Amino acid sequence: MKTVIADCKNLEGHSLFVKFVRIFTVPILNNLPANFLQIFMRTSSQDAEVVLENVGSARALEVMYGRYRRNIFSRGVMQAVADLFWHHFVSQPKGVRNRLKIVENNLEKEISRILKEKKEKEINIVTIGGGSARGIAEVLNKYSDELKGWKVSVINLDKSLKAIELGKELAKEFGLFNNFKWINDLAQNVKLYVADNSVDVVEMVGLLDYFRDEKSVETFGKIYDILKENGLFMVGNIVSNKEQPFISKLGWPKMYYRSASDLSRLLSESRFLKEKGEIIFEPLKNHIVAVIKK
Ligand SMILES: C[S@@+](CC[C@H](N)C(=O)[O-])C[C@H]1O[C@@H](n2cnc3c(N)ncnc32)[C@H](O)[C@@H]1O
Repeated sequence: MKTVIADCKNLEGHSLFVKFVRIFTVPILNNLPANFLQIFMRTSSQDAEVVLENVGSARALEVMYGRYRRNIFSRGVMQAVADLFWHHFVSQPKGVRNRLKIVENNLEKEISRILKEKKEKEINIVTIGGGSARGIAEVLNKYSDELKGWKVSVINLDKSLKAIELGKELAKEFGLFNNFKWINDLAQNVKLYVADNSVDVVEMVGLLDYFRDEKSVETFGKIYDILKENGLFMVGNIVSNKEQPFISKLGWPKMYYRSASDLSRLLSESRFLKEKGEIIFEPLKNHIVAVIKK
């Protein structure tokens, strides 16, 4: 599968200064005893504390996505310094914000295509392990004028009730509550709720990281079935990176770090054709997103 590095202007990288500081901070974070590291995070920053209390969840991601939604000094100077460190000198928060933007950019492209080409005014989207479904909500909100008169439905299948609550709050905030349907179940049961050949876009980001290969292929097969011909599938995976020891010391659930060729292989084992997609690295190369058509 073709691999590219995302070149969107709105993505985050590390400046020379940050790269220099990281020469010292990454080994320190990786080698600090886990309990000391956790105390340091809890006491230095509210954001770091919430991430720590919600490892692996949609709530933790919302904190990372939210960095630019408030002034960094809104909690005082000491918190600002700590937040600056946790949000900007550690790659993970920037990586997940980049991943979100890559998904949003590709969803925008697909919606624009559908708006031009589709005759029946209907768009069906499914997000699996969707959590807050921020990417989808933000894009639908941005396209609200163009989508007037269209029937837009989003199914968010997530095993966590807390994540579903978060998604409901966000959908309300964007005036999209009636477009969403939340289902509290596991990814592998998607076909109980969604008919074959009925979906325009399936998004599964932040979930494959926790699936072993067999479960990934099985889930991809079901996603292939529910997609319409020429429907779009976007799926993310974390890539092996320098911060792995630090992440596992936070108590983050076990993740399957995958390369672009690993992800490409799993997709082709489940009937997706390599020629119909590409794998996009976010600039820090901590995450990849495969964007592939049925
Ligand atoms: C790391 S969050 C990602 C949330 C969102 N997709 C995003 O990128 O911001 C993972 C989400 O997957 C959900 N999840 C975990 N295992 C699942 C499973 N087997 N089936 C469905 N959802 C699952 C969690 O509840 C959580 O909301």
